[in-house]
Amino acid sequence: MKQKKSDIGLIGLAVMGENLSLNLEKNNWKVSVYNRTVPGIEEGVVERFINGRAKGKNIEGYNDIPSFIESLETPRKIMMMVRAGNPVDELMEQVFPHLSPGDILIDGGNSNYEDTNRRVLLGESKGFYFVGAGVSGGEEGALNGASIMPGGSEEAWPAVKPILQSIAAKADDGTPCCDWIGPGGSGHFVKMIHNGIEYGDMQLIAEAYWALKNFLQIDNQELSEIFFSWNEGKLRSYLIEITANILIHKDKYGGYLLDKILDAAGQKGTGKWSVINAMELGMPLGLIATAVFERSLSALKDLRKVASDQYHHIEKRAVFNKPELVLDVYSALYASKLVSYAQGFAVLQRASDTFSWNLNMASIARMWRAGCIIRSAFLNDIAAAFETTDKPVHLLLAPYFRREVKQVFHGWRRLVSGAISEGMPIPAFSSALNYFYSLTSEHLPANLIQAQRDYFGAHTFERIDEPRGKYFHEDWTGHGGDTKSGTYNV
Ligand code: 6PG
Repeated sequence: MKQKKSDIGLIGLAVMGENLSLNLEKNNWKVSVYNRTVPGIEEGVVERFINGRAKGKNIEGYNDIPSFIESLETPRKIMMMVRAGNPVDELMEQVFPHLSPGDILIDGGNSNYEDTNRRVLLGESKGFYFVGAGVSGGEEGALNGASIMPGGSEEAWPAVKPILQSIAAKADDGTPCCDWIGPGGSGHFVKMIHNGIEYGDMQLIAEAYWALKNFLQIDNQELSEIFFSWNEGKLRSYLIEITANILIHKDKYGGYLLDKILDAAGQKGTGKWSVINAMELGMPLGLIATAVFERSLSALKDLRKVASDQYHHIEKRAVFNKPELVLDVYSALYASKLVSYAQGFAVLQRASDTFSWNLNMASIARMWRAGCIIRSAFLNDIAAAFETTDKPVHLLLAPYFRREVKQVFHGWRRLVSGAISEGMPIPAFSSALNYFYSLTSEHLPANLIQAQRDYFGAHTFERIDEPRGKYFHEDWTGHGGDTKSGTYNV
């Protein structure tokens, strides 16, 4: 009897690829897997997987592309889990000659959304479909349920929907954390902003940890208890939970491992991309930018050592009342997190308008409720805010969040001013607070910036006593010309 062909093929057996194929198989899909062979570097990867973790499972291994593709049911669905960048293009070139019209390529890596825009067009020009799917959740999520953000060729969605939704995490109400995002590279754009928000959350949590540890001089056990208690309330989230665990994790020598980890953070680039793209869109994403730059600054460990020897500013420490300080740190963390998500969603909205993606903000918030790194209780509140008929123009203006910010505002402000006067770096807490102050100020000193631009470069300005969109130039010195510079904005 002819053997049933595979429902899906997966290329790239690094940890994410292995785990996703096991997750697919667990959900009753027959899976073919392929990994390239590079003598001396990647050898026997397929055999090791098939004879190891995939043993006895409905997973077939292939070492060459033609037979791997031949093993798939048409229209073929092929998920690529390879490194973002050139490897994806190279792989596509190798796969294209063996595909049939209507076959579907899914890129599950952390690809740049502009690459995905290009690949969707390329795939479609050859008669195939291309889906750029952001996948979040790390190894654990890949195996037991990830948050999956697919976008690209919408014609492919009905065929890939049951497969991707089956391996997605399920929110508490049972909804799969995977739904169609939109055209082109929108899926990867949304994943990129997810990662940017992840950077922001991590920096905020790190600042909370640092403020508590240094102001209260408490040990990791006590710190962990605070984070565990926060995990019972509005801050309940995966990152708070793992922080509580990390704090009390001991290494094989018996000490807290966290205290022995070098304070120089790495980054693979998606936080940076978020900021670059926010800048391209002309949108403020200051908290995430701060988080990215703080990782860069942390990595300058040697320079910080030299500088700290020359400026001993962290010597003096005020004595804080513990319950009050804990509440203020909580307030700063919660309010700054609100600011960060508001900034992130505003960038998504701007991208959606600019690229005509028609993104559904409530649906994106729901997709992030489980499976992904930023999963949290609070995404339910964000989804609810976007679901109201009276959609907020900005998340901080939604009635629920307005009430929330008002409650924590004083603690947030006290913590930021206290930390700054004590010489404690809290760059993300203060970036969030400054954004909040600017956002909620009807008047800002940008009139002076406009005047300066016009003074030295005839860049023109609008007047408060004239309609918007009408531009003026002043002869500031009495000997300037009449020629104006363009009024365009980037
Ligand atoms: C996820 C993560 C993941 C990301 C890592 C590393 O959603 O599962 O965002 O995609 O690559 O967290 O990111 P950095 O090395 O840039 O911290």
